[in-house]
Amino acid sequence: MSRKRIAVLTGGGDAPGLNAVIHALTRACLNTMQCELIGYKFGYRGLYNNDFMPLDLRTTSGILHTGGSMLYCSNKDNLFKYQVMEGGQKLIKDVSDIAIQNMRKEGVEALVVLGGDGTLTSARDFTRKGVNVVGIPKTIDNDLPGTDQTFGFDTAVGIVTEELGRLHTTAESHHRVIVVEVMGRSAGWIALHAGIAGSADVILLPEFPYSVRKVAEKIEKRNSQGDPFSIIVVGEGCIEAGGEAVIGRVVDDSPDSVRFGGVAAKLAAQLEKLVQNEVRHVALGHIQRGGNSSAFDRLLSTQYGVGAADLIKRGLFGNMVNIRNGEIGYISLEDVIGPEEVSTTGSKVVTPDNPLLIAAKKLGIEFAEAS
Ligand code: F6P
Repeated sequence: MSRKRIAVLTGGGDAPGLNAVIHALTRACLNTMQCELIGYKFGYRGLYNNDFMPLDLRTTSGILHTGGSMLYCSNKDNLFKYQVMEGGQKLIKDVSDIAIQNMRKEGVEALVVLGGDGTLTSARDFTRKGVNVVGIPKTIDNDLPGTDQTFGFDTAVGIVTEELGRLHTTAESHHRVIVVEVMGRSAGWIALHAGIAGSADVILLPEFPYSVRKVAEKIEKRNSQGDPFSIIVVGEGCIEAGGEAVIGRVVDDSPDSVRFGGVAAKLAAQLEKLVQNEVRHVALGHIQRGGNSSAFDRLLSTQYGVGAADLIKRGLFGNMVNIRNGEIGYISLEDVIGPEEVSTTGSKVVTPDNPLLIAAKKLGIEFAEAS
């Protein structure tokens, strides 16, 4: 029987659990199929440059718990719109056929793509060109439709929760307000979950424009009740009512070029004029993506890796492994991304009927939605 060659790549920003997926996928494939595996380095860039390494029991040993990606990541390389230098000029070209030629040359029969919406949009497009693709949903933001939970999210929530605990003790000691900016792009999953778990007094979600006045009123209410300190969690994509999201930087050669950043600093400056307390701000930044993955993410990633091996064995390509009500299954990449060039299914966001949001309001946590 001939040996199937399976390739793997990790696209987009890193997320804790990437290595646990690679660990599980490698073992499940080797144990259930006549195959060998390779891993392309730096996501799709490695596919373009034909830059890969072998994945086997030895090269994937000891990585289950580790953060980052042993295959490295890139959130810049869309091969359908790739920046190349020609005659001293920057040009945008579709180089996907070069990637397909590279896979043919190496005898790759199946490609497993770990990524969020941008990476999986290309995965859908490679499927349309006849490549046997299986997707696996990754992002700390948890904003990908088609699955209940992406891997990396639980670890990020754990990290933010722990940092909120640290910020509480210093805020309380100084009777200060600390505004804490968390990642998640335009989705408030990290802010909502970590805000509740970390006992925030105010949680601002990108889904609901906020009122600075309401935030200030909550702080003063706490002051008057004998709690002269407050922790405000703000999702990086939050928008003040009537205002705009705060952009930290624009990364030109990234498919999703906008990086949010700075909303906590902006809000802290506004609050300082409205409340008695001193106000400080902190953006937790990439700490949220670093370090070892949580036990939950290791288990979820392991299930995703085994699920992907199963789809390859059954020849069910063009799909993404997903989890629904605790059960591993799959969904078409077309349904996850939609039919258009860029994703049209939209991010999975927090809605007003979210049970955790409703529960948090009953606890008295202020969401400061502008009415
Ligand atoms: O999508 C994951 C994420 O960490 C977002 O939460 C954040 O906005 C963005 O990536 C940061 O991107 P970069 O790593 O390019 O700074």
